[in-house]
Amino acid sequence: MRRQSLLTGVLLAAFAAVAVPAGAQSARALYLLKCSGCHRADGQGAAEAGVPPFPGFIGDLARDPGGRTYMLHVPGVASSGLSDADLTIVLNYLLDRWSAAPVDRIQRFTPGEVATLRAVDVSDIVKYRRTLVARLRKTGAAIAEYPWP
Ligand code: HEC
Repeated sequence: MRRQSLLTGVLLAAFAAVAVPAGAQSARALYLLKCSGCHRADGQGAAEAGVPPFPGFIGDLARDPGGRTYMLHVPGVASSGLSDADLTIVLNYLLDRWSAAPVDRIQRFTPGEVATLRAVDVSDIVKYRRTLVARLRKTGAAIAEYPWP
């Protein structure tokens, strides 16, 4: 009996290790599961479906406080159902993989910041983005082409 529960424990631990891989791998797994359906595995999105590309652009969004707030309120993120911790992991994955600038010059997300930014009231995301993009483009930031109004 004892032996059996020990074995069960070992098996459960082994399963947990497989189901929740640590570090970069779980970041990629989260991205593939929750984001790649629209943004594609390579982050290029789909122009015809109005999904903007990340490579070369995501860093300039993350460099700006308003851009960081925006990132937490795009529909795919807002409705992801992910915890603050998992969103932190997946957003940092975007930065690590697709920022044009060396990522050490861009502040990484923390669960605390994610919780704070999620709580910001952004009632009209389209309007928010339009204002943000107009401001950032004036500073020379690289912002993806955006087919929406
Ligand atoms: C159902 C499709 C869909 C899913 C799933 C999705 N997104 Fe998006 N995402 C979009 C679209 C479309 C846009 C364009 C802006 C908009 O309509 O809000 C966008 C925009 C973004 C932007 C802003 C990029 C820019 O240049 O404006 C970020 C950041 C982002 N998504 C991150 C994510 C992350 C992280 C996930 C996974 C947790 C995710 N998205 C899941 C469709 C999706």
